[in-house]
Amino acid sequence: MADLECDFLIIGSGIAALRAALDLDGAGETLILTKGGAAQGSTAFAQGGIAAAVGAGDSAALHAADTIVAGAGLCRAAAVQALTEQGPRYVRELLDWGARFDREPGGEAALAREGAHSVRRVLHARDATGREICRILWKRIAGCPRVRVIEHALAVDVAVNGARCTGARFLDDRGRLASVTAAATLLATGGAGQIFRETTNPSVAAGDGIAMAYRAGARVADLEFVQFHPTVLDVEGAPRFLLSEALRGEGAVLVNAAGERFMQRADPAGELAPRDRVARAIARESQRTDGRVYLAMDHLEPAFVRARFPTIADACRRAGLDLARDRIPVGPAAHYIMGGVDVDLDGHTSVPGLLAAGEVACTGVHGANRLASNSLLEGLVFGAVAAGAMRRWAAEHGRPRPAPPAPPAPAGGDRAPAAPAGLSERAARDLMWRDVGLFRDGPRLTRALETLDAWAAALEPAARAPAAARLASIVTVGRLVARAALRREESRGAHYRSDFPERNDIDWTRHVTESKGRVTAVDAGEAGHVRN
Ligand code: FAD
Ligand code: SIN
Repeated sequence: MADLECDFLIIGSGIAALRAALDLDGAGETLILTKGGAAQGSTAFAQGGIAAAVGAGDSAALHAADTIVAGAGLCRAAAVQALTEQGPRYVRELLDWGARFDREPGGEAALAREGAHSVRRVLHARDATGREICRILWKRIAGCPRVRVIEHALAVDVAVNGARCTGARFLDDRGRLASVTAAATLLATGGAGQIFRETTNPSVAAGDGIAMAYRAGARVADLEFVQFHPTVLDVEGAPRFLLSEALRGEGAVLVNAAGERFMQRADPAGELAPRDRVARAIARESQRTDGRVYLAMDHLEPAFVRARFPTIADACRRAGLDLARDRIPVGPAAHYIMGGVDVDLDGHTSVPGLLAAGEVACTGVHGANRLASNSLLEGLVFGAVAAGAMRRWAAEHGRPRPAPPAPPAPAGGDRAPAAPAGLSERAARDLMWRDVGLFRDGPRLTRALETLDAWAAALEPAARAPAAARLASIVTVGRLVARAALRREESRGAHYRSDFPERNDIDWTRHVTESKGRVTAVDAGEAGHVRN
């Protein structure tokens, strides 16, 4: 494919990307590159819903307070304020565009309850909210003549000329390397769940955006905070399908192999405690009883369960289980990364001309633990905000000169090079799950890092080969997560160290960023991010 030019380059096609693209349409030529099919990504799989303070008795202040409690002392107040105050407006816009969310008989939005929310505030389209949001956003994009989408285009590097981001290099659907020059570039590449063996994330969520930004010199932040969803279908041979927290919101309970409930013992909030606490309680109960843990809803009306959760009921049926009557074996899996590419409130990263929004970015809105259903809202709000910032940046700086061509890939770059000894995608994901997962400690993290460092060094020449891009992302992001987890000698939110089981507010109420090996800590109370 020939090299391309545009005003606005967006990498990714999830909620953050699409919402940004809609606000860029009138301002110039926009190009969306997405590595799989257009709808591949976490957004399309989102189940529980999108949180927004639209109900009677709710308010932005209450939503903010819940978000901050879940974030365990590390939320950035200004980001939370932006999310919770602007959220309702963007959600109403989706409704105005025709989103078919569930409604009460009186016509008002039906609101679900999820863990750590003090009121019902989750709008949903039964248990396939993401699919409905994608439908409506893609319908709007179809009416934007200046937005072009290239599918099966794998971005492999952010291009930087001088200090400025000038676009990106990508592999097209035939594996040919091409480059795009753009006035402003938005990373909207989603999460990194695939760096762990057990994950709810689709295969495209391999942390590419974090790895590309880090290689380009951008700051990344708070990467130790990985959320493990407590209830993922755990049947041998079946996909790790998410069993939405909304099930517990509607009354589903967790039981051990003897049929006993245990959550009340583990946490006063029981089944609706924040995810990190439920996930660890499940793992501990399973260890204590040397048995499985199950989600049970046989005490609920079967017709209600099947009608409210048709997608989940279907996935269970494919695994030979009846959601409404059987006990469903569950276990935790990596679900969401709170850290990411460090951005300010407009979405600017520390590399001029490069912005980030959605799960790949770290605005600090989620702190150490994301409140359920705040992520779709984050993509919507901060995607739109980033579009405004891109327009302003482009108007001020114009299109750049293209970056010099990348050094040629090693011979055989279109074929996967031989991996260094012991390294395979499977080995890396196993290692991350075993040693950098739900329970962490210094000796295991140190050992994991030694292996990851050796792999990264040996992978270095091969990593420039496009065919090694995925493995390079997994190892790069895996190392960053492990390094951050080793540094933080306390337990907070989703980060749990068995050798430092207490939260330590005196030493650790701080965000830690890293860029090209330079580590900086910023007190969480400080107003903004480290500025350039
Ligand atoms: P995504 O929607 O993941 O999109 C990322 C895009 O980037 C994809 O199109 C991908 O193909 C593309 N991409 C990645 N790398 C490259 C590359 N190198 N080159 C080109 N393109 C690339 N959150 C909620 O708030 N509510 C929920 O109910 C909910 N349920 C969830 C259920 C599941 C099973 C999962 C996995 C997540 C859920 N989440 C939920 C989290 C939420 O869905 C995601 O955090 C959110 O959708 C992320 O949106 P995004 O736009 O940042 O990224
Ligand atoms: C779920 O439905 O449990 C996932 C919701 C989320 O990730 O916010």
